[in-house]
Amino acid sequence: MADGATRREIYIGLMSGTSLDAVDTVAIEFCNNQFSLLGALSTEIPGQLRKQIIALCAPANNELELAGALDYQLGELFSEAILQLLDQQQLSPDQITAVGSHGQTIRHRPDATHPFTIQIGSAAVMAQRTGITTIADFRSRDIAAGGEGAPLVPAFHALLFDSEQEQRCILNIGGIANLTFLSGKAGGAVSGFDCGPGNLLMNAWCERHLQQPYDIDGQWARTGCVVQPLLERLLQERYIKRSPPKSTGRELFNISWLDQHLERLPSIPPQDVQATLCELTASSIAMAINRHPSAISAVYVCGGGAHNKQLMQRLKQRLETASIHSSKKIGLDPDWVEACAFAWLARQTLKGATSNLPEVTGAQHPVILGAIHPV
Ligand SMILES: Nc1ncnc2c1ncn2[C@@H]1O[C@H](COP(=O)(O)OP(=O)(O)OP(=O)(O)O)[C@@H](O)[C@H]1O
Ligand SMILES: [Mg+2]
Repeated sequence: MADGATRREIYIGLMSGTSLDAVDTVAIEFCNNQFSLLGALSTEIPGQLRKQIIALCAPANNELELAGALDYQLGELFSEAILQLLDQQQLSPDQITAVGSHGQTIRHRPDATHPFTIQIGSAAVMAQRTGITTIADFRSRDIAAGGEGAPLVPAFHALLFDSEQEQRCILNIGGIANLTFLSGKAGGAVSGFDCGPGNLLMNAWCERHLQQPYDIDGQWARTGCVVQPLLERLLQERYIKRSPPKSTGRELFNISWLDQHLERLPSIPPQDVQATLCELTASSIAMAINRHPSAISAVYVCGGGAHNKQLMQRLKQRLETASIHSSKKIGLDPDWVEACAFAWLARQTLKGATSNLPEVTGAQHPVILGAIHPV
């Protein structure tokens, strides 16, 4: 993709999403507005650290102490991932313009009276350990401007994937699922929002019953039957029906939310619950796409959910007009899209360019995102 122009810059993007499956790190080379993916790495989050982060996502005693300690530990983990990628790519820190780090969301409250969002993974520690300028806390400035602080990736999706040939939807299935609608016209409108659960409920149920972090290829869900009364109950969730702008996270869609619904129904075999959760993700995504005012011709999927064969099959069944493909078909591996977006967001910050889309987040105006930790 690089165009051979002289202004070459390398950025690192780092994504640690709501699924808490891994830290995704990419190195991107920009040549003016074109970019190429130099290398990528997925690093495991140690089990104990993962448990502590999940605990921190729900209100508890002594949160500040734990948040401070985990902020530091994650800063170190992220730094190790960066240094490992540099080693793998035979790059040195002084060749990197900056790191863009999403951080680990522990609370996202855009609708609170005093709205806020918190991502941990100390950028100060990262700048110190790597010797690279680190940019983090991308969401807060959009919230300060009256927005949801999310999703932030639609501007990147538009830059990378817009096409005049077809009206596209870019679907990211991480812990939560988010959509970007591209108009199919040059400079046309972009819209997007978090549509509801992605993998996070399926993961939690699988962990409880199979002691596995996720349902590989959706094999377990395939052995179960969708329980309509449960599906209908879950789809009644107000968030799913609400109009955008909207964003959500573990605060709403978590195992306690599921348990509250299950308590009100006769006992259901675990594999049927898993099948229903898979259907919930497929239905809430399909409803959002089918409801779009103009017909979408193609959906390109990124994020780990793209690997869940059962989920992809159920989604295909439920989409009315759109065909469904991996984002690989339009040039980027589904596993690295989000991390690449944060490399681009860091570049925008350093260039003093705005990167939120007010029509997506609901912010009053475009703002420059991110907090810079220089070296
Ligand atoms: N082979 C597979 N079969 C089923 N599910 C898979 C497979 N591979 C990955 N996944 C799912 O994808 C998840 C990871 O996806 P991803 O990294 O995109 O999510 P995330 O880190 O939460 O990102 P986001 O910030 O977008 O929320 C895993 O937790 C798992 O649920
Ligand atoms: Mg992930």
